[in-house]
Amino acid sequence: MQELRDKYITAIADAADEAALENLRVTAVGKKGEISLKMRELGKMTPEERQVAGPALNALKDEINSALSAKKAALADAALEERLRSEWLDVTLPARDMRRGSIHPISQVTEEVSAIFADMGFSVAEGPQIDSDWYVFDALNIPGHHPARAEMDTFYMNRAEGDNRPPHILRTHTSPVQIRSMEAQGAPIRIIAPGRVYRADYDQTHTPMFHQVEGLAIDKDISMANLKWCLEEFVKAFFEVDHVELRFRASHFPFTEPSAEVDIQCSWEGGVLKVGEGDDWLEILGSGMVHPKVLQNSGVDPEVYQGFAFGVGIDRIAMLKYGIPDLRAFFDSDLRWLRHYGFASLDQPTLHGGLSR
Ligand code: PHE
Repeated sequence: MQELRDKYITAIADAADEAALENLRVTAVGKKGEISLKMRELGKMTPEERQVAGPALNALKDEINSALSAKKAALADAALEERLRSEWLDVTLPARDMRRGSIHPISQVTEEVSAIFADMGFSVAEGPQIDSDWYVFDALNIPGHHPARAEMDTFYMNRAEGDNRPPHILRTHTSPVQIRSMEAQGAPIRIIAPGRVYRADYDQTHTPMFHQVEGLAIDKDISMANLKWCLEEFVKAFFEVDHVELRFRASHFPFTEPSAEVDIQCSWEGGVLKVGEGDDWLEILGSGMVHPKVLQNSGVDPEVYQGFAFGVGIDRIAMLKYGIPDLRAFFDSDLRWLRHYGFASLDQPTLHGGLSR
């Protein structure tokens, strides 16, 4: 028995891999293994012999089994060690060639917009891209039958049968972040919320996923005049011009009252767009005074607080500022396009350092 033990324990210790280990398991404790066969002989022994040999064989079987699993674990550890050693990578090394990557115009413009509004005391808020229809519609005073739900070509998430939670959708605008931010922070509040939005639409000026930035300013005495000033400052800073006329056109959004769409003054000489001169107009955003029901739905008292909100299409102002003709190219991941329209990866847009140098 001692011989048997030494033979297997040494072999197990020397096994080079899992296959060798499995072989040993079969020859020692497998159904027809050496030790199993010995156990069968117990039946032919006298009761006295059996009383000694039985427990000894069982103990040997246990010892070999635990040696097998200990060795198996050791082999797995060694394999992991080896992988970690061979796949080792120093992520703290400086990049070797920064010219290869570039910042996408959408990211660049998002950073530019954030820098401008940060300077006016707005902080950046975020919300989920998949949201409930309460946040995307109802809380924003867009009830179930309202045509805006159909107009926005909403993408609905599939629901498993018997799932009774409220329908979840891909948000069609960034306005739900108004609700979420007021719920979380209350008033007064001053935020912008850039991010992805989705509508089922596809042509030269529409893609099913695009980007907006929401603005929201709520306090005790915020008026349309503050909205107008903020937007003028924003447009001048963003398009990097000293002067620009804005045109406020009366409009309708269920979540603002009154509502206005805002156009910027521009010219199209020789097919080149110039913002801040000429007598053409380009629509760039929707805005208005936040509807009392929206404040109420967010837990803010409309008797005490009021303010403005706006929503700008990021892709659209990126196209205008950087002369990009086709919206769809933004999302083609064409390397030549990215090299042409992309921005140096280490240049952070700031108001003092220049937004788009
Ligand atoms: N959410 C509106 C849209 O997507 C834009 C908007 C935002 C209008 C805030 C008014 C106030 O068209």
